[in-house]
Amino acid sequence: MTQPLRFGIVGAGMMGREHIRNLKLLPGARLTALADPTPSSLDWALSEAGDPGVATFETSQALAASGLVDAVIVASPNFTHRQELEPLFAAGLHILCEKPLCTTLEDARWAVEQAKTHAGVFWTGMEYRFMPPVAAFVERVHAGEIGRLVQLSIREHRFPFLPKVGDWNRFSANTGGTMVEKCCHFFDLMRLIVRDEPVRVYCSGAMDVNHLDERYDGRTPDIIDNSFTIVDFAGGQRAMLDLNMFADGAENQEEIGAVGDTAKLEVFIPSGDVVFSPRVGFLAPKQVSRTHVAVDQAALEAGSHHGATFHQLEAFLAAVAGTAPIQVTAEDGLRAVAIGVAAEISAREKRVVELHELGF
Ligand SMILES: NC(=O)c1ccc[n+]([C@@H]2O[C@H](COP(=O)([O-])OP(=O)(O)OC[C@H]3O[C@@H](n4cnc5c(N)ncnc54)[C@H](O)[C@@H]3O)[C@@H](O)[C@H]2O)c1
Repeated sequence: MTQPLRFGIVGAGMMGREHIRNLKLLPGARLTALADPTPSSLDWALSEAGDPGVATFETSQALAASGLVDAVIVASPNFTHRQELEPLFAAGLHILCEKPLCTTLEDARWAVEQAKTHAGVFWTGMEYRFMPPVAAFVERVHAGEIGRLVQLSIREHRFPFLPKVGDWNRFSANTGGTMVEKCCHFFDLMRLIVRDEPVRVYCSGAMDVNHLDERYDGRTPDIIDNSFTIVDFAGGQRAMLDLNMFADGAENQEEIGAVGDTAKLEVFIPSGDVVFSPRVGFLAPKQVSRTHVAVDQAALEAGSHHGATFHQLEAFLAAVAGTAPIQVTAEDGLRAVAIGVAAEISAREKRVVELHELGF
């Protein structure tokens, strides 16, 4: 029998602990080490792991040098990803780096270059692709159920950003800005669903409600809490993201709708419903059909991403075993950051941003 893959986690905060809970569900994986400079994070993560044999380190350098891990999940704050990736690339370890790949295009391009010659698997964490209802939705769009895809709309209406260790997520310099930090997920989904590259972005957004009364060393947060973003794709398809982060009462947090020339398909999270509405003409009775995509209960309970963390780790393990391709590459991570960076510039400068301005 093959030995389980030995995992290390760099950054043992909220997302690191979600990975710990999901690794426990995978027989092909075993957590062996953690790296985090904050002792309370390590304590909390160790109790989550429930295994006193898990080694702890302050840095990813020490973890990489320990010889205790085959694969590493990077779940440290966004602005630390590049510095934490350096020793992991150097050690030739398999890497799953949480989104956003990096906070700047320069750093994300660096990661893409490293990944090209990397001995191990490099995977950008993009959980939303792996939510079972979203995966079913994408498969049906790609199978041609709506005909030729013309318009794609993604709505995320959710709760404000949560408190984080050291409050790093309150400032764009640390996160890349909301359109990079959070919305890279949705820009990644757009590229995945449309199967094309964007050419221009227009984003109208601001911080209008959340964090206005918060102060950190006298500074007020500077992160967008609501926005509309339009993304034009090279093939003429148009996509839109409607983000709101003070809509915690919304029934569904995510609603994705694709309209083709013959039908519309929608998916709703967390309801898990996929709704198909073929065109029937103005007067004919509608023929709407609704299917429910169930999620494994253990995977659902092990995280707050509708089972996605479990399924992504499963797919990562398959890529390491060489039985399946890398589904989210460093290049995918870079491209999602690029749309986010374009959206941040667009919102700030109140203008359309062409992707070629950013070198794409
Ligand atoms: N895929 C998703 O849906 C999703 C969801 C949440 C967070 N994330 C990503 O996961 C990462 C962590 O976010 P979080 O919500 O867990 O934040 P967090 O603040 O809860 O945890 C971050 C942890 O990293 C530690 N840390 C700080 N600097 C470090 C360094 N240089 N090296 C190692 N560890 C360091 C902190 O002490 C803390 O324990 C971010 O990149 C975030 O964008 C992804």
